[in-house]
Amino acid sequence: MVEIRKAKVPDIEAIHELITGYAEQKVLLPRTIESLYQNIQAMFVAVIDEQVVGCASLTIFDHQLAEIRSLVVDPKMGKKGIGKLLVDQIVEEAKRIEIDRLISLTYQVEFFQKCGFEVTVKDSMPQKVWSDCINCPKMPSCDEIAMVYYVK
Ligand SMILES: CC(C)(COP(=O)(O)OP(=O)(O)OC[C@H]1O[C@@H](n2cnc3c(N)ncnc32)[C@H](O)[C@@H]1OP(=O)(O)O)[C@@H](O)C(=O)NCCC(=O)NCCS
Repeated sequence: MVEIRKAKVPDIEAIHELITGYAEQKVLLPRTIESLYQNIQAMFVAVIDEQVVGCASLTIFDHQLAEIRSLVVDPKMGKKGIGKLLVDQIVEEAKRIEIDRLISLTYQVEFFQKCGFEVTVKDSMPQKVWSDCINCPKMPSCDEIAMVYYVK
């Protein structure tokens, strides 16, 4: 039985391992242990039998825009609905804090469509572009797809 809950300090090592595994395949950005500690209050985990099998976090840019980040599910536990449960939890959190829009820059278009997101353009998220993309080596030819969930 999978449980989705807020992350705790003892989860950090497992979260870091999951993210690093996918970051090495260049499907998402790496996170340092320090950044995980700093952002742990915005992080949720999926847990089965006390083992962390997935995580996702919420980053807020301003009153309009937030981003789902570091969404990963243990490859051994894929396609069992865990990723969608994590996204649903982030959407709930976005509703609770009354943000307007939740975004994702991703290669997983079909997955996010199944979670209620739609494809959009990066021009609709200047907060993201000017705070993160501007410093990203992918910037001139980024092939990630911008997706949005309208919370309000
Ligand atoms: C993307 C990811 C989080 C999906 O997690 P998951 O637990 O396998 O997804 P779910 O089982 O909850 O899938 C929900 C739905 O999306 C579909 N889906 C999941 N991955 C898919 C994919 N790669 N392509 C097409 N459909 C997909 C599922 O079949 C399911 O459809 P259904 O509701 O019709 O049965 C996981 O594959 C992952 O960690 N990928 C690597 C990291 C990554 O790319 N993260 C996103 C960064 S933005």
